[in-house]
Amino acid sequence: MSTAGVISLERDTPELARTYEQAGILQFHHGKFLIGPLALKSGDRVLDIGAGTGRLTEFVAGLVGPTGRVIGIDPLENRVAIARLRASGTLTFDVGRAEDLSRFGPAEFDAVYLNSVFHWIADKRQALREIERVLRPGGRIGLNVQDPTKPHESRTLLRQAIEQAGFGERSSESHRVLGSTEDELKALFAEAGFVDYRSDLRSLIDLHDDVDSVLGRSEASAFGNFLGSFSSEERAAIDAAFAALVEAKRTPEGLRLERYLRFAFARKPRSRTVTSVS
Ligand SMILES: C[S@@+](CC[C@H](N)C(=O)[O-])C[C@H]1O[C@@H](n2cnc3c(N)ncnc32)[C@H](O)[C@@H]1O
Repeated sequence: MSTAGVISLERDTPELARTYEQAGILQFHHGKFLIGPLALKSGDRVLDIGAGTGRLTEFVAGLVGPTGRVIGIDPLENRVAIARLRASGTLTFDVGRAEDLSRFGPAEFDAVYLNSVFHWIADKRQALREIERVLRPGGRIGLNVQDPTKPHESRTLLRQAIEQAGFGERSSESHRVLGSTEDELKALFAEAGFVDYRSDLRSLIDLHDDVDSVLGRSEASAFGNFLGSFSSEERAAIDAAFAALVEAKRTPEGLRLERYLRFAFARKPRSRTVTSVS
């Protein structure tokens, strides 16, 4: 599904970025499921696209060691500013988007990954074309993405809350589930020239202390694109309905909510097949 015209990269704030630095620990944990299968080794050159505040990027820099090189890019300056506090001789951060990797030369990286980013990207075809270009032959790509046919539990509850608050007719406009289905993803990877595609849909359990934690995380993760079309009075009604629905998910460990992400991996072919014309 196209996100063009829906997602704005202009609505982030320093406060949302600071909140993400705390709340993004959840993304960090599932990000490790992304990094393992990439089989990074000492000395690898790695690009983290949509690095956010750089927690996972810093972890990856530790994996590739002092002879490796890791670059994180993200379009949001507030987040890059926090990420840069993590920079080192082998770890750098820059402002940039997946669709334009022109600052990098061909075959510059051994691996490229995107953790909780792909669903936000407006032009997925262009992003994958660019990633294929900057990967060396045999280089690996890994990403995770929401599947619009399997929304997170919090999204389903939020949709119910919007309806209960009396704004049901606006729920699809304000609450579209972004992402790619398995068929879309597979086709996009093939079109960009990747091979050895494999993916699996994972179920992740989040535990929150309270509803503010659930909402705060969603707001920070969406960099200002969360329920933006509602007035503050409308938001208050939705939040109250959401709080009641979420409270029903309380367990002795906390509010238990399930999320679903598809993890996909592939590689650039080792060599291009040359067809001779006689
Ligand atoms: C939920 S955060 C994930 C951040 C980080 N990858 C992590 O694991 O914590 C989503 C990130 O995607 C970035 N993003 C959105 N559109 C993008 C694009 N077109 N290219 C690259 N990054 C993008 C946002 O700026 C945001 O930092």
